[in-house]
Amino acid sequence: MPHFRDVKRTLSNERQEYPIKMQHAYPSVNIGWGAHTMVGNDARALGMTRAMIVTTGLKGTGIIETIQGVLKHAGVETEVFAKSTPNPKDFEVMEGAKMLSAGKFDGIISIGGGSTTDCCKAIKLVHAHDGQDVRSFEGAFKATKPNKIPHLAINTTSGTGSEISCFSIINHTEKKYKMALFDPNCTPSKAINDPLLHQCMPQELAAYTGMDALTHAVEAISSRLCVQSAYGPGLWAITETFKNLRESACNRNNDKAVEQMVWAEMAAAYSFNSAGLGIVHSMAHAMGGLYDSPHGLCNAIALVDVARFNLPACPDRFAMMARAAGINTDGMSDIKAGELFIDMIQELKDDLEITTRFADLGLRDEDLDGLSKFAAADICSEGNPKDVGFEEMRRVFKGCM
Ligand SMILES: [Fe+2]
Repeated sequence: MPHFRDVKRTLSNERQEYPIKMQHAYPSVNIGWGAHTMVGNDARALGMTRAMIVTTGLKGTGIIETIQGVLKHAGVETEVFAKSTPNPKDFEVMEGAKMLSAGKFDGIISIGGGSTTDCCKAIKLVHAHDGQDVRSFEGAFKATKPNKIPHLAINTTSGTGSEISCFSIINHTEKKYKMALFDPNCTPSKAINDPLLHQCMPQELAAYTGMDALTHAVEAISSRLCVQSAYGPGLWAITETFKNLRESACNRNNDKAVEQMVWAEMAAAYSFNSAGLGIVHSMAHAMGGLYDSPHGLCNAIALVDVARFNLPACPDRFAMMARAAGINTDGMSDIKAGELFIDMIQELKDDLEITTRFADLGLRDEDLDGLSKFAAADICSEGNPKDVGFEEMRRVFKGCM
């Protein structure tokens, strides 16, 4: 037998580029109707007796008050930090970390969508590093100290995937772009996905967040960092999103469609958490940073244009996604299958009445250079199947205006 170092390897281009990939861990998740009624046990199991709740408020839904009641019944005291906002800002994280340090808490609970969960993850990182500036954690694997307290993530939107991922996206308010904090220490200790809470989303938010979930799956499957274990959940998420997003977004009382979108968003997150994303997310991060634009809407705007741009780089992956979406690709070239798949995304957008373009969100010609620079440097651009520099990014941005 030859020594393993002497084995002659025949590497494909893909393997030469990224020969070693990473499979990241996921937290345990309670998923199902009524899962929020068990959060008292979950918090106690994590050792919580006094927890800080992070939320954007969820005003009018009664969700915060209900969960506080459940926690109180289990003997967990809570205090609410409600200063997190959509596209959470660096100063909000620092303020939350200050409250966390001062309050003698033994746990942190996020209740909300991606913005809330991301803010909570960043607060946890800053807290573990004794108040170190959140901006110092931008990039990958910047944590140097273990978490001091557990994090229970109660998710309320069917798109983010943040409740099980190791990403946190925070707005750098000085430079006006969104930083990606990518670190296993961001991953929540435990997640809750209760369709009953997701059902409180209004139609428009259900449409935007559903398009975010679809974007996660499409970008993960086409990512050049894709791990083989991402195909199963990512392709299934695409199947379920095409089957259920229209109904879920248009009829919030359709329990089955609402529940399937919860599973789909989580499956898409299992996929992207290890496979990475692409430039749709880079562009959405740049838009969110400069104009405070909704994340899901930005993804919905850019997905079709970027998919057309990326198709020639990985037609086989697009053909896989076409089959997952229900297209019969027998006798069809991969490029043709990919084109039909992208047409299906456009039809879904049309049915959801998403006609907005970036110009409608405030994008102006004079901002194109700055946005393109930030987006090209975004950590998500690393996974994009087609090489993207400043010029290509600017062209794609311009096309989405
Ligand atoms: Fe996203």
